[in-house]
Amino acid sequence: MTIIELIERKRDGGGLTGEEIRWIITEYTAGSIPDYQMSALLMAIFLRGFNERELAVWTEAMMHSGDVLDFSHLPTAKVDKHSTGGVGDKVSIPLAPIVAACGLVVPMMSGRGLGHTGGTLDKLESIPGFRARLDPDEFGQILERHGMVLAGQSETLVPADRLIYALRDATGTVPSIPLISSSIMSKKLAEDLDGLVLDVKVGKGAFMKHEAGARKLAETMVGIGAAHRTRVVAILTDMSQPLGTTVGNALEIHESLDVLAGNGPPDTTEIVYKLGAEMLLLGNLAQTEREARHMMRDAVDSGAAMERFSAVIEAQGGDPAALIDRSLLPAARDTRELRAPRAGFITRCDALDIGTAAVRLGAGRATKEDDVDPGVGIIVHHKVGAEVEGGEPLATVHYNDEQTLENALGLLQDAWEVAPTPPPPPSLLIGEVR
Ligand code: URA
Repeated sequence: MTIIELIERKRDGGGLTGEEIRWIITEYTAGSIPDYQMSALLMAIFLRGFNERELAVWTEAMMHSGDVLDFSHLPTAKVDKHSTGGVGDKVSIPLAPIVAACGLVVPMMSGRGLGHTGGTLDKLESIPGFRARLDPDEFGQILERHGMVLAGQSETLVPADRLIYALRDATGTVPSIPLISSSIMSKKLAEDLDGLVLDVKVGKGAFMKHEAGARKLAETMVGIGAAHRTRVVAILTDMSQPLGTTVGNALEIHESLDVLAGNGPPDTTEIVYKLGAEMLLLGNLAQTEREARHMMRDAVDSGAAMERFSAVIEAQGGDPAALIDRSLLPAARDTRELRAPRAGFITRCDALDIGTAAVRLGAGRATKEDDVDPGVGIIVHHKVGAEVEGGEPLATVHYNDEQTLENALGLLQDAWEVAPTPPPPPSLLIGEVR
């Protein structure tokens, strides 16, 4: 078979056989299909899509392009959570230790910031000494010892995705439901999970701006899980405004510690408890959502969740003292308040503008090679529905450089809208697919 025939067939709306798909993924990963032909094929897939069978085989072939983990010797259910990405989304950081303290095994593999969205690994690396890069042996040892691990994806896991993702990024083929779902699910299925909870973000600050697209993505990923006999539940959650009160790496560690101490903001806490309850149900450690929430609250109130977090941070090289004495976490040199232009009700608190402003401050990367600045970011004081006085602070910007502050303020001035009448209450939980 030749790659040209396969590109032409997909371009003209035909299907690819299982054997052809496996051949494409193997040959591309080995470097035998050049990027220009793979780019053409990806564009044909972007335009024509996959049928259910093609999607299942494509995902399976990606998953087997490198190592597949094996934790079958661990006696407890292994359940992970994945978010499609948002602004202020630090949920994984408190969630993993809370459900691990309830008895679940959580092999959490996270990513770095992408575009205007933050990354769990960048946030964790603001804890002095913390190492997100673990070799597979160390990953397994920490998981066995502590029931959880918070690390980046190893080089040998799903190498096809790393190559294909980079190509999609450069060829306008990222926002495709079959390509996104196979990319995410191939990595998650390679973790040898019993269950997976997906947080599919919807709104201005998310990949999927509208509910219909988010629901389709969720249904596709749940379907891939079913085809691989892995139980997957997707929860659609709001990303029109940032989650919680902080955006920025070390600032989000402060908020994560607040959630672990039982006094986090209501919306972050609710998402942690909702997703955690689904994880405990998938792992058969609870029979009802109410029971699961009760177990999680006990893990927080008893201090078990905080202890688990501290032990894992230490096992991964981080300084556990920084979780108690928070002055040891990095902080920006200066702050500036952004004030409400008039009295009224907040009708918009724009996640995309606030996320992009945080990147301009240095909390994210303009290019892949950039370092993030761990101390900078934005504390959000008021969100949609809040009533404010004229001149009251809407946000506090933490910055290290006057020029980046000016660049960020340019966006932040328009990120909030204050109107005379209150908006309808926003819903945090938008839907679910199981
Ligand atoms: N995250 C992924 O891992 N892959 C995608 O394609 C999009 C988001």
